[in-house]
Amino acid sequence: MGESIIVVNFKTYQTAQGASAEELAKAMAEIETSARMVASVSAFDLAAVVQAAPDLEVWCQHLDPVGFGSNTGWLSPSTAMERGASGTLINHAEHKVSIEHVAMLLDQVPEGFEVCACAADIEEARALSALCPTFVAVEPPELIGGDVSVTSADPAVVSGTAEAVREVSEGVGVLCGAGVKTGLDVSKAIELGTAGVLLASGVTKAEDPVSALEDLVSKI
Ligand code: G3P
Repeated sequence: MGESIIVVNFKTYQTAQGASAEELAKAMAEIETSARMVASVSAFDLAAVVQAAPDLEVWCQHLDPVGFGSNTGWLSPSTAMERGASGTLINHAEHKVSIEHVAMLLDQVPEGFEVCACAADIEEARALSALCPTFVAVEPPELIGGDVSVTSADPAVVSGTAEAVREVSEGVGVLCGAGVKTGLDVSKAIELGTAGVLLASGVTKAEDPVSALEDLVSKI
């Protein structure tokens, strides 16, 4: 089994923006674990978070397949990389794009820059995995932000995605997300065939984010 990975998506939670984003990233960097910890941050916060937590892996929440030039308001991969991003989410349930957008982005980013393409279900995961992103993350939209982890509410979508993606390409990692909050949820995700989880509110809305992070890695 490869290295486990925990991606915390900061979304636009107030607890994970601006100075709070820097604090949360520093807390993530200090968690003792063999798992990869990744912060997925707002483009506004990218440079500051990288500076505040230089040893932490930092991803963008979204990128556009644009180069330098006349592209007002779009998020350029080159600039993200210059500012220290080592990867990105794409096609998140809260920021859907076309499959062409994902394909063009993958064509544009250099090898080693990680792209985690999000899918709502097994079929979308299968289609996205054919483009060979680094990861496909399955997140049933109705479970996002809820109290029940996808690993308990719908384990079949997790194991089914892992199987479907493996059939298309052994090189694409699988993550799952929606409602993930505890170390037990993470170990169940791994048991169901994933490399780890993508989560947000379990950390960003936790009373004590450091304890939440410690619990998340406790069974790895
Ligand atoms: O990107 C992670 C996400 O959509 C899941 O959110 O709050 O259910 O962990 P949450």
